[in-house]
Amino acid sequence: MARLVLVPAVLVVLLGCLVAAGPVRHGGRLSAGGVAFAGVAATPPMGWNSWNSYGCGVDAGAVEQEADALVASGMRDAGYRYVVVDDCWFYPRRASDGALQADPGRFPAGMAALAEYVHARGLRFGLYESPNARTCAQIGGTYPGSTGSAGHEAQDAATFAAWGVDFLKYDWCSTDSALPEQVAAFTRMRDALRATGRPIVYSINPNSDVAEPPPGAEYDWSGIATMWRTTNDAYPGWALRQGLTGHQGIREILDTTGPLTARTGPDHWLDPDMLVVGVTGVPGTRYPGLTRAEQRTQFGMWALLAAPLIAGNAPAYMDKATASLLTNPDVIAVDQDSFAAPATVVPGTAGRVWRRTMSDGSVVVALWNPGDADARIETVLSAVRPPAANRCVARNLWTGTTFALDTTLGATVPAHDTELFRITP
Ligand code: GLA
Repeated sequence: MARLVLVPAVLVVLLGCLVAAGPVRHGGRLSAGGVAFAGVAATPPMGWNSWNSYGCGVDAGAVEQEADALVASGMRDAGYRYVVVDDCWFYPRRASDGALQADPGRFPAGMAALAEYVHARGLRFGLYESPNARTCAQIGGTYPGSTGSAGHEAQDAATFAAWGVDFLKYDWCSTDSALPEQVAAFTRMRDALRATGRPIVYSINPNSDVAEPPPGAEYDWSGIATMWRTTNDAYPGWALRQGLTGHQGIREILDTTGPLTARTGPDHWLDPDMLVVGVTGVPGTRYPGLTRAEQRTQFGMWALLAAPLIAGNAPAYMDKATASLLTNPDVIAVDQDSFAAPATVVPGTAGRVWRRTMSDGSVVVALWNPGDADARIETVLSAVRPPAANRCVARNLWTGTTFALDTTLGATVPAHDTELFRITP
């Protein structure tokens, strides 16, 4: 017979800043039916996606080279496991039996062979599709054909499972944004994937080609998908000044996604889109690339929000600073924590100080500077410290330095930068 063990509260000894906190394990609220797929993503999925660096030019050679680079750079061992081939991997026509086919020019050995290559390196394999008639590149006219999964859900799910697919990115790609239709279409593929019996991370984007406000932020998709995009595409820049539709800067994505973290938890993660850290921009255009400060903000705040970390750069060509940021073990540990509590803004800090309690009872604090000039950002310690802790130690997660805290936690934070501290009693 199962026994409930009650630990007397007096066993939790509070001495100064010492707190005996047991591991906390819980996530955000869930839709009544539970998660879409249980056990595929206890922590936010991490990996690499071809789109931002290769677009429709992606081919087997590039994917193999990037899979090898994930291993050689230490990214795989840091947690980046999924290798996802985005839009344009398919031949523009289905086979006579209706099956999807890999583009034979760019993927001559086919997708099952590529999945095997990826699996042999201790990685997992992902593909892209759309619930409508055409994928986003097909809608935009940059790729021919009409090979979306509409009407082919069961067949396509079976094909993915047979090829060894572990992750499906399923991208709306239609201006028709009636929510009931979206829910029905995303649910159809969820059920088709479930019917294959293969554990597959189901990653959806309800926002592409849809008018604002983004349905990914408006609706709670937690029972339908493993992870869902909250906004349109992250572009490698800070903020979108020209009102370009279909893209957002890092700052705008944080404004939209930050308040939603109560929705996230094991097997149901908010997805503020891929990391554009190290994605090469074009100076002087609206795609300037992120500065180092902005890269720290994206990586650090994505970790604080427990977001999937899907690198969009080309690891095969990245510089040392990018590799070292993307593999920072202290920050990845924040992202991959068993998620004790949602990230919240600390009251009275004009949205510049965020905190999240970790499963070991410590607290991670972000001081982020959305302004265009350096700023002193601080908070009283009582607002961010672990419960009942008086004197604490803070570890700077970028530099590794530690220092004792007394009554306040503060720093001069450069424009667009973020300081991250883990506070332990
Ligand atoms: C949409 C998605 C992107 C990418 C492209 C591919 O824009 O949001 O992440 O998948 O489609 O066409």
